[in-house]
Amino acid sequence: MAAAFHNPISRAIRPEDTADTLSRYRRSQKRSKEDYARMVEGFYDLITDFYEYGWGQSFHFAPGKDGVSFEEAIAHHQHLLAEALGLRPGMKVLDIGCGVGGPQRAIASEFGASIAGLNISEYQVGKCSEYNRKAGLDHLCSVLQGDFMAIPADARTFDAAYQIEAIPHAPNKVAVYTEAFRILRPGAIFAGFDWCMTPLYDGDNPKHRELKQRIEYSNALPPIASFTDVTDGLEAVGFELLEARDRAGDDDVERPWYQPLEGGGLTLRSLPRTSLGRKITAAALRILEHVRAVPEGSFEIQALLNVAADSLVAAGRLGIFTPMYFHKARKPE
Ligand SMILES: C[S@@+](CC[C@H](N)C(=O)[O-])C[C@H]1O[C@@H](n2cnc3c(N)ncnc32)[C@H](O)[C@@H]1O
Repeated sequence: MAAAFHNPISRAIRPEDTADTLSRYRRSQKRSKEDYARMVEGFYDLITDFYEYGWGQSFHFAPGKDGVSFEEAIAHHQHLLAEALGLRPGMKVLDIGCGVGGPQRAIASEFGASIAGLNISEYQVGKCSEYNRKAGLDHLCSVLQGDFMAIPADARTFDAAYQIEAIPHAPNKVAVYTEAFRILRPGAIFAGFDWCMTPLYDGDNPKHRELKQRIEYSNALPPIASFTDVTDGLEAVGFELLEARDRAGDDDVERPWYQPLEGGGLTLRSLPRTSLGRKITAAALRILEHVRAVPEGSFEIQALLNVAADSLVAAGRLGIFTPMYFHKARKPE
């Protein structure tokens, strides 16, 4: 039940700076390629606590199945990734763009590998480190602040690396793949889930274009990639591509990834992430902001997240977007 009562108002910024941080985020979004670091840090300063409130400590989607809870679906998605990497005790692994470390802790606990998280957001690094310590996982989980465009690690340091919905933030995917290739030892696997427009996306369709832009704007993203941007990019830097497919279309998927944002099966815990819950939160924040019980800008942050949720659901229903394009590649021996 903790998530339902978690305070969503960001503690990364001083209350009086909330509105300014939001305007700075908006300005940096217009220059998303050049200003990516400022945009991403500002965005996660604003929304990290909201995400935890509505989603938990793993900031990614997962395909659903009847009779499987949201939390179980998230855990299963992480499990499949760790299996694809062939993780074992003693392996040194890099989690590229680790959030507050939900996946890192789950995977390290289950597979016994040592996982270093990398994250550009100072606020999230602090939270991740605290959660690792509280979970008693300091012996397996560590976290470092840094940019995945220039990973602060020596060449051939890691036995495996993964990314879960982090590289969509990269202004240049090939640059991150180059870095992933560099820090892996020969023979090691790099795998992950990326956000992509699917082949059903039609750049000449104004509705499609609008949805793509709304997803980018509300999630601190540069232009969203296509499947071939991922596969060609991996091969271009020297990886041997072993597998690439949209996990949203897998056989065991009975409930679409965007369903948790729509509602259905409402519980107190799931309420904050549904359409109804988001409307209630927005109304409450508007009142609280008016009586100065929450910082100015809180309502607008929630509004930004509503744009994100609504555009993701709409693009998901049309099948033009996926947040789980699975890629698995090996650095040749
Ligand atoms: C959608 S969250 C996913 C977090 C985590 N993988 C998870 O599944 O919980 C994206 C993450 O990528 C991180 N990120 C974005 N750009 C980055 C960069 N240039 N270098 C390192 N981390 C970055 C963000 O700070 C955030 O933690």
